[in-house]
Amino acid sequence: MPDRVLSGMQPSGRLHLGNFLGALDNWQRLQETHECFFFVADWHALSTNYADTSQVKTFTYEVLIDWLAAGIDPERSTVFVQSHVPEHAILYLLFSMMTPIPWLERNPTYKEKQEYLTDRDLSTYGFLGYPVLQAADILLYKPDAVPVGKDQLPHLELTREIARRFNSLYQPVFPEPKELLTSFPKVLGTDGKKMSKSYGNTINLSDQEPVVRQKLKTMVTDPARVKRTDPGNPDICPVFDFHRIFSPLPIIDQVNQECRTAEIGCVQCKAFAAGAIVARLAPLWETRAALEAHPKRIEDVIHHGCQKASRVAHDTLEEAKKAMKI
Ligand code: TRP
Ligand code: SF4
Repeated sequence: MPDRVLSGMQPSGRLHLGNFLGALDNWQRLQETHECFFFVADWHALSTNYADTSQVKTFTYEVLIDWLAAGIDPERSTVFVQSHVPEHAILYLLFSMMTPIPWLERNPTYKEKQEYLTDRDLSTYGFLGYPVLQAADILLYKPDAVPVGKDQLPHLELTREIARRFNSLYQPVFPEPKELLTSFPKVLGTDGKKMSKSYGNTINLSDQEPVVRQKLKTMVTDPARVKRTDPGNPDICPVFDFHRIFSPLPIIDQVNQECRTAEIGCVQCKAFAAGAIVARLAPLWETRAALEAHPKRIEDVIHHGCQKASRVAHDTLEEAKKAMKI
């Protein structure tokens, strides 16, 4: 049996190039070598959006469509939605009985998000318990590894701590999952800050060609390159990051040299970058169009994926309950 990996994503709307390079593209490749479980963590979205739940369902669908467009293949991977597999809630409850509150209070994302999302009240029980739900998400499937970004490492450590506590209190049921940290190229948004939906600086996977080209046109460059005749420095230009990731080598070399001597102008350079991004995204647009023409296909994927996930989750939960003698 190949190693099993599991990962999840909160539904926060259309995915952008940062999500693609940071997670999806890597998930897509993992399908070649691993047994994969990928799910949309819609209950987790409630931890910060409980006061306005109006978008959670739409976003769940949008995320799923982006996944499938990006090559997540439901024939090979189990693709599902957290809230459709109630075992997640049950194991979460059982884990909550044995998770010491201080473990959760010292979780760095707990304090950080509270300070950052000041427009809402996050002094809730569910928000504190976020990593306990995540531990249940993970351990139900006993994965060998969890592909995540660096920001999730504290949650993964807590998952292992909860697994150890359960195993030592009752019987060994849960293997401790490893993290699968992937290095990925950084991409900045059109304003030169980290690409993020909350900054409104994203290039989305669903953006069509004219939108991609327009966004590139407005993108910031080396701020010292004001006039066309000023030489620039690609090393500090966010457009050049796109070239590095998406452009063919000869173009990268050309831009790298001709920017420094002002032989190439930013307008042309950006047009090359836009072309390279368009070439990478075009197959995704095709898949998306085919999917959107057949909404029933998406329903089928979810239905089938949730059934497959439920079978595994059910068995693990039975084992856990047996270990706890309940
Ligand atoms: N907390 C993760 C994030 O914000 C999402 C998530 C929920 C997750 N459950 C998970 C990731 C289980 C991996 C495994 O990105
Ligand atoms: Fe950036 Fe390209 Fe302009 Fe150089 S030519 S500053 S790499 S956009």
